[in-house]
Amino acid sequence: MLKSCAMFGSQRRGIFPQRLLMSLLLLSAWEAGSGQVRYSVPEEAKHGTFVGRIAQDLGLELADLVPRLFRVASKGRGDLLEVNLQNGILFVNSRIDREELCGRSAECSLHLEVIVDRPLQVFHVEVEVKDINDNAPLFSLSEQKLLISESKQPDSHFPLEGASDEDIGENAQLTYRLSQNEYFSLELPTNSKSSKRLSLTLKKSLDREKIPELNLLLTAVDGGKPALTGTVQLFVVVLDINDNDPEFDQSEYKVRLMENAVKETFVIKVNATDRDEGTNGQVAYSLRSIKPDGKNLFTLNENSGEVRVNGTLDYEENKFYEIQVQATDKGTPPMAGHCTVWIEILDANDNAPEIAVTSLSFPVREDTEPSTVIALISVSDRDSGANGQLTCSLTPNVPFKLVSTFKNYYSLVLDSALDRESVSNYALVVTARDGGSPPLSATASV
Ligand SMILES: *[C@@H]1O[C@H](CO)[C@@H](O)[C@H](O)[C@H]1NC(C)=O
Ligand SMILES: *[C@@H]1O[C@H](CO)[C@@H](O)[C@H](O)[C@H]1NC(C)=O
Repeated sequence: MLKSCAMFGSQRRGIFPQRLLMSLLLLSAWEAGSGQVRYSVPEEAKHGTFVGRIAQDLGLELADLVPRLFRVASKGRGDLLEVNLQNGILFVNSRIDREELCGRSAECSLHLEVIVDRPLQVFHVEVEVKDINDNAPLFSLSEQKLLISESKQPDSHFPLEGASDEDIGENAQLTYRLSQNEYFSLELPTNSKSSKRLSLTLKKSLDREKIPELNLLLTAVDGGKPALTGTVQLFVVVLDINDNDPEFDQSEYKVRLMENAVKETFVIKVNATDRDEGTNGQVAYSLRSIKPDGKNLFTLNENSGEVRVNGTLDYEENKFYEIQVQATDKGTPPMAGHCTVWIEILDANDNAPEIAVTSLSFPVREDTEPSTVIALISVSDRDSGANGQLTCSLTPNVPFKLVSTFKNYYSLVLDSALDRESVSNYALVVTARDGGSPPLSATASV
């Protein structure tokens, strides 16, 4: 039988003509046996905060409150508000948390039922609980991890988890800011129903080899006055792609090696590094070619990059080798780097002199004139430098001598008259000796 309804807020109290009008309206409600009054109170108001002159607004005499057993009943949370029976004022009794009472719904009210006896009357009082900005924006996690490949193009988007705010209206209207950084900007969600959501936008290409990870701070700010904020740490891990070649620390390696180096002799170690991560940065070495053709002469360890001798070298055959080495990473697709190893072979005194005796005019007649050429002798040594530098000598105390005609060419010449009756045979020994250390020599008997 609700016939009339009075609505007014606590902020209007004290305006006498309105109060009078209200009383009149309430009077008619009273007569009908029921009435309705509305107040409002901010949540979290202190104990004792004034809500409304309830007795007066319901048209009850202060003196009647006790005798008529004035009482207030409320569904559930009866202790939040209380009435002072001396002055008829409704006040806040204990902490009212809007979010606890009503969650995120826009409307939040407490319904009070006021009852007096003699005669029995029941009034309905509604107290609106107003939101204050008592809740900060809250992110569900304190850290969000984003895995982003360094291959991502600028303008790529990476969605973020937004914050929530338990308040309502302006107090829950969130804006976001991102800490200063080179790589990302923030794309804010739009209020319309478009698909735009909170996300990071890549401003410029990432390079894992320069910056493997980034720490950003995302701040949510609500629209309350004063505003409250919440933050989340954004941890960006930049994922590797195989975008770097293996690189040798030198493009050319030069090494000298004795020609008598035996199999397994260490020659040189090449080293390539790849700035990528994991298998993208793991390097294997391979021999591409050996010039001049020396396929089996050297080996290369595919893991260590060590070059070793695998055959017999000969300075007299080849003084230089050029080895092309490749380093390949294990990415898909793989990338490769190259280098050249120059090997200079050094001579060892591994060749003995050789003596050739030609144009013999033996036997030598007794009456042969001194200075007659008996034989031509040539000496040679395949080694070079001092190792091939020869000196020749002849058995001492014989009537013959060696005369050099040209480098490494000699004539065996009769030095003095012969006398068959005193010496019928001479055993001549020509010795050629090289300048190596130790020297090698050869002899020839005439
Ligand atoms: C290879 O070179 C890199 C950098 O140039 C160096 O850090 C690394 O120790 C080298 N590795 C070897 C086995 O020499
Ligand atoms: C090393 O030399 C042996 C012969 O002595 C040959 O069979 C082998 O293939 C060589 N290794 C390489 C890697 O050239």
